[in-house]
Amino acid sequence: MIVTIDGVAASGKSSVSGGVARALGVPYVSSGLLYRAATLLGLEARLDLHDAPAVLAHLQGHPLRLEPLAGGNRIWQGDRELTGELHSTRVDAGVSVVAALPEVRAWVDAQLRALPAPFVAEGRDMGTAVFPHAGAKFYLTASPRIRAQRRAQERPEDVPAIEAALVRRDELDRVQSAPAPDAVVIDTGPLTLDGVIQTILAQLPA
Ligand code: CDP
Repeated sequence: MIVTIDGVAASGKSSVSGGVARALGVPYVSSGLLYRAATLLGLEARLDLHDAPAVLAHLQGHPLRLEPLAGGNRIWQGDRELTGELHSTRVDAGVSVVAALPEVRAWVDAQLRALPAPFVAEGRDMGTAVFPHAGAKFYLTASPRIRAQRRAQERPEDVPAIEAALVRRDELDRVQSAPAPDAVVIDTGPLTLDGVIQTILAQLPA
């Protein structure tokens, strides 16, 4: 079975997906890492990130490999591991531009659909565009301030700057971020990480 966990930026998708996947004994798949890695490669090659043919040709010449482990996803370009470089402010700022390119979305979707189930898939459109027939779908939300406070533990900027960047990214990602009509929406604001994980586990079909 495939479980999808979508949600807005910094809503806790990766930590929650990792916890749910570990409890189920399956891997989780972070679709955002593929968009982030595509962005890093584009930035390093000094491409115009709006230039879909250039970004796609570069990706085809530098194939990415996602390693979906329950303990944390890793991503490789050949022998080089990119994982540690994907959560910088510079990648945060460019990723929505790359993610808006239909050619890049089709390329990411094909990589995801080639993975062997079962797994937990997290991102924006896992329950809508990529795995519409998933066995269970969830969508995580929280207020921008709470999300910024959480992310401030992982970024050098202060909470208001992070909040402004998150709100901007929500807006740029709006098209692909609508919850699936059959997704269970969870406001993670009042919940602990474990509380969110338990809420999801309690609603999975037997
Ligand atoms: O954890 P956070 O929400 O900050 O980021 P992420 O899940 O790693 O996603 C990074 C970016 O990739 C998002 O801001 C979207 O632009 C894009 N993305 C997407 O368009 N569709 C997905 N399924 C996953 C990510």
